[in-house]
Amino acid sequence: MPPKAPEPQMSALTEETCRVSEPRPVAVMVLAAGEGTRMKSRIPKVLHSLCGRSMLGHALAAARELDPQRMVVVVGHDRDQVSAEAERHAPGVCVVVQETLAGTGHAVRMVTEALGVMHGTVVVTYGDMPLLRARTLRALVQEHGAAGNAVTVLTARVGDPSGYGRIVRDSRGSLAEIVEEADATPRQRAIDEINSGCYAFDGALLADAVKRVAAGNAQGQEYLTDVVAIMRGDGHPVGAVPAADPAEIQGVNDRVQLAQAHRACNRRLLEDWMRAGVTIMDPAATWIDVDVTMAPDAEILPGTHLEGHTTIGSGARVGPGCLLRDTTVAQDATVLYAVCESADIGPGASVGPFARLRPGTRIGPGAHVGTFVELKNASVGDGSKVPHLSYVGDADIGEHSNIGAATVFVNYDGAAKHHTTVGDHVRIGSDTMLVAPVSVGDGAFTAAGSVITEDVPPGALGVARGRQHNSEGWVERRHPGSPSAAAAARARQAAGPQPAGPASAESPAHAEGEGTPGT
Ligand code: UD1
Ligand code: CA
Repeated sequence: MPPKAPEPQMSALTEETCRVSEPRPVAVMVLAAGEGTRMKSRIPKVLHSLCGRSMLGHALAAARELDPQRMVVVVGHDRDQVSAEAERHAPGVCVVVQETLAGTGHAVRMVTEALGVMHGTVVVTYGDMPLLRARTLRALVQEHGAAGNAVTVLTARVGDPSGYGRIVRDSRGSLAEIVEEADATPRQRAIDEINSGCYAFDGALLADAVKRVAAGNAQGQEYLTDVVAIMRGDGHPVGAVPAADPAEIQGVNDRVQLAQAHRACNRRLLEDWMRAGVTIMDPAATWIDVDVTMAPDAEILPGTHLEGHTTIGSGARVGPGCLLRDTTVAQDATVLYAVCESADIGPGASVGPFARLRPGTRIGPGAHVGTFVELKNASVGDGSKVPHLSYVGDADIGEHSNIGAATVFVNYDGAAKHHTTVGDHVRIGSDTMLVAPVSVGDGAFTAAGSVITEDVPPGALGVARGRQHNSEGWVERRHPGSPSAAAAARARQAAGPQPAGPASAESPAHAEGEGTPGT
């Protein structure tokens, strides 16, 4: 590349800039070898997550969109974990090990020594800047190609530059060098334009320059940032372009910055969904992951966390107070104060308040799961109801059936789990124990308080409980003088003389009623 006079590149990168298709980078390198001591964590820094994706995952997702010929990740600290995560997000990624963490320049030198000189545009980003957008990278590559630079640095003007490398420009406004905070003079520290840690390089010039980076600085490290002054000293054009959105370049070094980046990432996702037609009542109190999808007219109320591959259908209303992970909520369903994992909630169904749907739960169209109900590996058919205080585990419930309050599907015998089947149009009486394996046929009923251990045939009433016996006068005999005895005596006097008859007659309706409370 012929040297040419450096020229100021102060125009902010915008989407306009990246309309023209940029050259395909020969490689994108993501540096992720650092320990991240400031995180004070057992987990390597780049594996900390925001919005359901590790920082490394965010960096690789953005990098992949450049469609580089080669994806490279530099690992060092906790290399096995970091490499595995890199492979998960960028299958076939080329992993280069940096044995000693001698700085960002050293990390890049390890790559060029391992892989040889790469001719073409090489993009370098750091694994700890999760907010960087692919379109910003694309604009950087485009700008770099158009300017014919040896290096083009993505920068930002920020209110508080502390902790970042400062962009030092010459009297003509052209990029002169990058100075790390530890090495900066007070005057340089006052500069509010900072190095993002994202660069487009000419690959051949980069391979040559990183060999000449010295470690004679405050941190005793080989700084990649020194390549700028080296290339400029060689007479090559170097450029610095501010990012259109400075929020994107926030680096994460500690947990305070992780929380800030998480909030910013969340806000960005929510704003994209709001623009796509989703109502988010309170974005500050709503948290979603990158892989969540929502249809127009979905409505999310405060205190709701949508995690993993959760999907919310059109017209569905979720919240307040929900935690949904890998859960599908079909159109027009409602979910209120519920915790749901790997569950499938059908169209028009309602769940909650205070319901827990564990993995393998399927709620059919128009079905209802109510208050203090837990389900696991269970399906509830169209229009069926489990309204109150129940546990439904390892079961299939047919259509238009009603499960009375406090029913328990007794699925575990202490050794193995067993299955229960409930047919269509069944009425399970309140406080029924369905001891699995067992089935209740279509149109059958169970009496309240029954412990059902044998199958109930279609249309039958299953009754499995002790008959009631009333021991007349027992309280006055056993607790004479008590308030209960006095109340009983008053009731007896008020009722007048009673006709003789059986002491404990049960009305047939009482004996055979299924005892389901009105819903
Ligand atoms: C770096 C930049 C600084 C910039 C800031 C942006 C240098 C010298 N400084 O500072 O100008 O403003 O990022 O956030 O580049 N890494 C390795 N091997 C190493 C050292 C680091 O792979 O030997 C990786 C880390 O894992 C991390 C990234 O490089 O992902 C940046 O390292 P970090 O120590 O966080 O650099 P900063 O001090 O933040
Ligand atoms: Ca950093």
